[in-house]
Amino acid sequence: MSRLFAALYDPVMRRVERACLQEWRGALLADAAGSVVEIGAGTGANLAAYPAGAVDALWLCEPDAAMRRRLARRVAQHPALPATVLDCGAERLPLAAQSVDLAVATLVLCTVPDPPAALAELHRVLRPGGELRYLEHVAAPAGTRLARWQHRLEPLWRRCAGGCRLTRRTSEAIAAAAFDLAEQREVAMRPVPAVVRQVVIGRARRLNRTA
Ligand SMILES: C[S@@+](CC[C@H](N)C(=O)[O-])C[C@H]1O[C@@H](n2cnc3c(N)ncnc32)[C@H](O)[C@@H]1O
Repeated sequence: MSRLFAALYDPVMRRVERACLQEWRGALLADAAGSVVEIGAGTGANLAAYPAGAVDALWLCEPDAAMRRRLARRVAQHPALPATVLDCGAERLPLAAQSVDLAVATLVLCTVPDPPAALAELHRVLRPGGELRYLEHVAAPAGTRLARWQHRLEPLWRRCAGGCRLTRRTSEAIAAAAFDLAEQREVAMRPVPAVVRQVVIGRARRLNRTA
């Protein structure tokens, strides 16, 4: 990912954060507690949403150096959070099996090169009964005009948006990775182009089997 993408991420997302993302992040993480791992933490947009007193440890994974520098600066603005920044991708987390209570993925499963591998890794590190909280933009229903546009635009979008894909069926991928989709809602992100508007927000419980 380029340094330019990292530099532009917060300014480009500012209006979207104010219009909807801040509220969704807050609702998703208001009751986060215990040991938490967040993958692709980016510039730290979720940090303000974590309840400091309830989180015992917060592992923030971010493989991109330019993003990680911004993340470290944002972490310093939240001294009450027990946060540690880790240089790693979601596919290989330096955490013991069944060692975390909660996993968090926001606007990242669109970008990781291998979502099944990332989800298998989250399943590995979550304790039995632990939860994955997610907020992700997803593909339009198959066969729709929008889905066709997502396919057409994806190669260009991917180059301009740090590897982001428009055609991921993320809910299905989470269910296929041995999670129970306990709760999910579909919302429209704004103000963004239609190809990234449809978002799923949910909680998925780790099942006691592997995929
Ligand atoms: C669109 S940004 C989202 C940042 C943040 N999660 C948010 O909600 O604003 C996607 C992030 O995923 C990171 N990323 C890319 N490949 C990854 C991987 N294999 N594992 C984890 N994160 C990855 C990128 O470096 C980037 O910071």
